[in-house]
Amino acid sequence: MDRGCFITFEGIDGCGKSTQIGLLTGYLEERGIDYLLLREPGGTVIGENIRTILLDKKNSGMTDMTELLLFEAARAQIVSEVIRPAVESGKVVICDRFFDSTAAYQGYAKNMGQDVVETLNQLATGGFYPDITFLLDITPEQAMERRAARGEEDRIEKLGMEFQKKVRDGYLAIASESSRIVKIDGARTPEDTFSEILGYLEEMI
Ligand code: TYD
Repeated sequence: MDRGCFITFEGIDGCGKSTQIGLLTGYLEERGIDYLLLREPGGTVIGENIRTILLDKKNSGMTDMTELLLFEAARAQIVSEVIRPAVESGKVVICDRFFDSTAAYQGYAKNMGQDVVETLNQLATGGFYPDITFLLDITPEQAMERRAARGEEDRIEKLGMEFQKKVRDGYLAIASESSRIVKIDGARTPEDTFSEILGYLEEMI
């Protein structure tokens, strides 16, 4: 069977990933294309348990290293249990965040070092990388307005505006070095943003 494809969405909190992913899954459903939608951290029973630990506001004492290793642990599980087998069996796999989140959040914004994060990303994925990654780029101010409209913030989102700025800069730095990552202006209407995304995907799916 032909290999499917592996698509990831990235961006700062409140960048509009969920809306774009919803438009994409709607598009695939209309055309009867078999897909799998996952999120990181999560996507497996073990990964969802790790997610609960990571996002729980009670765990404010978590060290940055613990956090990094938990993200990578959840990733190792989802790649081996779900993503790799699904792509190899011909499915389109869409993942809401993947290892570029770790590079931007832990590597850049938390200053844990790109080399460390790259090594762990490589170990956790066994070298199984996305075919294409959409970075939805908006300013932290625009993201803040969107998040406020959504209600309560989780532990990581509570880190605030300065942090989101660093995450955005991290993403922009990573995107400028990778042909896999497509930077998309996420400040437009959802429809305009989606039509640009579709332009990249039409020949892949
Ligand atoms: P989530 O509620 O899924 O946020 P979003 O809807 O914006 O994706 O929470 C995931 C949070 O975890 C988000 O703030 C980004 C952060 N994160 C990291 O810091 N490192 C990572 O490797 C991943 C996958 C997520």
